[in-house]
Amino acid sequence: MSETANVCDIIIFGGHGDLSLRKLIPALYHLCSDGYLAAPSRIIATSREETSREEHVALVREKLQLFLKSDCFIEEKWEAFEKKLEVVTLDLGIDESYEALANMLGEFPERERVNYLSTAPSFFGPICKALGHWGLITPQSRVVLEKPIGRDLVSSQAINDEVSRYFEEQAIFRIDHYLGKDTVQNIIAMRFSNMLFMPLWNGQDIDHIQITAAESVGLEGRHSYYEDYGAFRDMIQNHLMQLLCLVAMEPPCSLDADSIRDEKVKVLRSLRPFTPDDVREKTVRGRYKAGVIDAQKVPGYLEEGVSSDSNTETFAAVRVDVDNWRWKGVPFYLRTGKRMSKRYTEIVVQFKEVPYQIFANKGRCISPNRLVIMLQPEESIKLKIMTKTPGLSEQMHLQEMALDLNIPENAPRTPEAYERLLLDVIRNNATLFMRRDEVEAAWKWADPILSEWEAGAVPLKNYAAGSDGPSSSIAMIERDGRSWYEEL
Ligand code: BG6
Repeated sequence: MSETANVCDIIIFGGHGDLSLRKLIPALYHLCSDGYLAAPSRIIATSREETSREEHVALVREKLQLFLKSDCFIEEKWEAFEKKLEVVTLDLGIDESYEALANMLGEFPERERVNYLSTAPSFFGPICKALGHWGLITPQSRVVLEKPIGRDLVSSQAINDEVSRYFEEQAIFRIDHYLGKDTVQNIIAMRFSNMLFMPLWNGQDIDHIQITAAESVGLEGRHSYYEDYGAFRDMIQNHLMQLLCLVAMEPPCSLDADSIRDEKVKVLRSLRPFTPDDVREKTVRGRYKAGVIDAQKVPGYLEEGVSSDSNTETFAAVRVDVDNWRWKGVPFYLRTGKRMSKRYTEIVVQFKEVPYQIFANKGRCISPNRLVIMLQPEESIKLKIMTKTPGLSEQMHLQEMALDLNIPENAPRTPEAYERLLLDVIRNNATLFMRRDEVEAAWKWADPILSEWEAGAVPLKNYAAGSDGPSSSIAMIERDGRSWYEEL
């Protein structure tokens, strides 16, 4: 049984943008279908183009049919959802154009309001200012900020300062959609509800940890955004850092938002700062050239309409050290890239080797234990352990087997990250959202790397589209006597 959340007005600024139509509206459709949106709630999209309600409803229907899994679009569910849709024409940067929105919201002044800013960060300040000017920020109002929050510490502070002129910190929901993925929440469940891992979760028993977010897609029409940000700002400073925090944090004293965020921010503050030499030795930047993915030829980054003097990386790898008691001597290797051989996001916790080897195992290697947490394309958790190969051979032979903690196939549909996060905003639960100090601590760590990169300290290495990134990323981990994990 679903618990219906409070009646609310959800206003999506940038309502006809890609994120809204591809992710937010489908997530709201699922919430509505599953009974999580109270009936009179409204979903109000803002659009710069003059759009009638009929045109908006037709557009949403078309996009839902495109982006929902085929069996999820159900006519009677749509009828209920469609009733919630509203649109207002609004130019985000022009104060006067908020009048229509003000009139619409004014019909229910007491209602909970979720203002979702699905726009470029340069609009965050102007939108909040206009909402303030029109008296649209009530005690029941919250604001959701999409990443990126700035491109360095100073610009992120400026954005946070502007927004906090109008909204209290507890009403600001900074979204990192990776935190909404079910398996990511499973990291918390697994770590803190199983005694098994507790004594092993430290530098005495863990050799190192790898976090990979590989994508086979390119930029999907987002070149102008990407040229300004690149792989490090787009993925490592936020998504991969959040995964690192959940893996590395100490047990929180409870599951409430601040207890978890306090522990995450402690990890971020323990990250070893990079010196210019570290940046040269422990980071890699790459850019894809033409190649083949799934038997299709794909062009290189520079052949996709980007300026030929672009210095933007589409691949980044970095060795991170967490300087605290638990993680002393345990490197975290992070990498991400576009146009890689396949799409997968995975965390590999590699345990140390047994202290002394008594098995001959016919010269085959005895693998150290690994906990492999796969976020996508499938969600799964596997514990790789060595076992005896069945048979009567005189010498005992070993093989690696996986204890598979997969979600059973007949389990109910796993909700998309945005469903969980939108519902949490509606419920006013900020546990899975980033607090200001977290975002700023992550930028503080990232800034020295990015400024060395901008000064040209680490050259961009080419990699063929459809590969696993530049060879220097393999060299970086091999220098430490380790290698990137490959599922055999
Ligand atoms: C976004 C990035 O935050 O995450 C994109 O801006 C990236 O560049 C996307 O493609 C990846 O998300 P997911 O959920 O598909 O791994």
